[in-house]
Amino acid sequence: MRDVTLLDIFQHHITQKYLNRSGLAHAIAVAYHAFYLAKEQNVDVDIAAKAGLLHDMGHFTWYRNGKWDYDLYKQNDIHAIKGAERAHKLLIRLGENPIQAKTISLAILFHTDSFLPTNDIVRTPLQQIVKWADEKDEEEGGLHHYRKIDFERAKKSIIRLDDMIEKVRNKPSS
Ligand SMILES: [Fe+2]
Repeated sequence: MRDVTLLDIFQHHITQKYLNRSGLAHAIAVAYHAFYLAKEQNVDVDIAAKAGLLHDMGHFTWYRNGKWDYDLYKQNDIHAIKGAERAHKLLIRLGENPIQAKTISLAILFHTDSFLPTNDIVRTPLQQIVKWADEKDEEEGGLHHYRKIDFERAKKSIIRLDDMIEKVRNKPSS
């Protein structure tokens, strides 16, 4: 049994607040991509899916005159840093294992190059998976942040992914 399930995370009001801001449909798609990539590469699927789900929770809405301002965002964005911190706080609050919470938080910190001074950092396999999973779901002009999904459908996808994680974890390793 895991200390914290995806459903525990998903249902928390903090998650709802931030994922509805940055795009719930995108968050779920990235969690699924991260799960499949992790399974393929023998990386912990639970950690990968959790990092995928929460990777964008640090977004702030950069509005100017009521409209999203992409330049303002580019200039001021620190969503990877904020997301890493918010995810860590949330996971610890929910009772996640601290080492696991740290690993998830670091995968969120390194999921994008956008704030890094260079793009030549060496990522762990998990960190690379979360970055790829995000890129897989990206759409032109940031449209992936605006794709909609209703709460009930989102919840069903999360429960299904929790089941898939349990199955992989319960399989005896060969
Ligand atoms: Fe993203």
